[in-house]
Amino acid sequence: MNIVLGISGGIAAYKTPELVRRLRERGADVQIVMTASAEEFVTPTSLQAVSGRPIRSNLWDKEAEAAMSHIELARWADLVLIAPATAEIMARLASGGAPDLLTTLCLATEAPIAIAPAMNRVMWANPAVQANRKTLEKRGMQILGPDHGSQACGETGAGRMLDPDVIADAVCSPEFAGASADGVLAGKTVLVTAGPTREPIDPVRYITNRSSGKMGYAIAAAAHALGARVILISGPVSLQEPRGADVVHVETAEEMHAATHERIADVDIFIAAAAVSDYRPSEASAQKIKKTKDTMTLELVRSPDILASVAALDDAPFTVGFAAETENVREYALGKLVNKNLDMIVANRVGADCGFDYDDNAAEVLWSGGEKAFDKMPKSELAAGLMDLIAARFFATRGAETQPALSIVSIKE
Ligand code: PMT
Repeated sequence: MNIVLGISGGIAAYKTPELVRRLRERGADVQIVMTASAEEFVTPTSLQAVSGRPIRSNLWDKEAEAAMSHIELARWADLVLIAPATAEIMARLASGGAPDLLTTLCLATEAPIAIAPAMNRVMWANPAVQANRKTLEKRGMQILGPDHGSQACGETGAGRMLDPDVIADAVCSPEFAGASADGVLAGKTVLVTAGPTREPIDPVRYITNRSSGKMGYAIAAAAHALGARVILISGPVSLQEPRGADVVHVETAEEMHAATHERIADVDIFIAAAAVSDYRPSEASAQKIKKTKDTMTLELVRSPDILASVAALDDAPFTVGFAAETENVREYALGKLVNKNLDMIVANRVGADCGFDYDDNAAEVLWSGGEKAFDKMPKSELAAGLMDLIAARFFATRGAETQPALSIVSIKE
């Protein structure tokens, strides 16, 4: 998980090197963003040492912005955690002001934001602070704490920042990342391929297709929401990585094939949503091809069929293919189900008005002995419905002993 840790200026900032260590122990990459007043309480040097990354604090730092702009940072984050969060930063967040890097980043991010308030007990009880807390909660921010106990000012009451271990446990838990620890796929691994591939012709040209990756990314997010560990092997797309998925970026069909087989051993469910190029140029020219003739012929050779090769493994995972067709959708999909020896196929029509790149999709799902149709709906909703169905079929065919209590869609067999 990529965590932007925002540190605002309160005495509890002295605990943040410890917090960074606890987050990193749990596998998080931590990028620190400090407010100017935070630097009065803890030094950027110590924080840089424990986080292993240069500290960001100034929105106008040209060098730092050139390396990773505040917008890129906002996109990079799977979570923005502000600890300690002072009364001042809570007020700025509630008002939507963006006078510095941290508050600007909070406005620019689509990642969830969690704050760990820390302040004197009277300040915490102040109606203005409590009104800001309520506003932030209403907008979906997670408020962690504060704790009750003795305070740096000598008083006792509610306002201490939670212990770094408690904060780290909370934000690194699967529930926090949107996964359900008791979801039906908890303990299972789902591998999803998504997006197009690019097959180079020469250093400046390639063969590709119209896939945006939206369908596959939505499936990865839906699998994660059911509690699965998710590996997403993605062709080149311009989407934000779904939270909670280990994303592997590839370009060509051969790279996608290799990346899949490197990771397939422990996979329980494989879902091939990628639009893989069936053919690639037999040779990619090392130099840009010059236009010397009126016509030119490209020799194409077949790319490896990733889906068929996974389904053919001795201990193949539950294998789900997609069929993208412009005509005879059902018939062609049934052919792929049988010929590639799949457990299930998701047939969708593609064309000028549907399928690739659209935010909505409709699908017909087929398996041996059953089928289910999904009307046109947002790809995120379709993905959730598909994952419920896939989980149900997975448990129905791969052993009842691993099946948790399922409360999912009824299936027409
Ligand atoms: O990415 P979006 O813009 O959101 O669009 C979604 C989608 C239309 C791409 C998606 O819903 C979809 O249908 N994906 C599969 C596209 C495709 O390549 O279909 P196909 O019928 O050509 O291939 C059949 C299956 O074999 C697919 O599961 C494909 O991933 C797989 N395949 C194909 C060729 C190959 N060399 N290796 C493969 O694994």
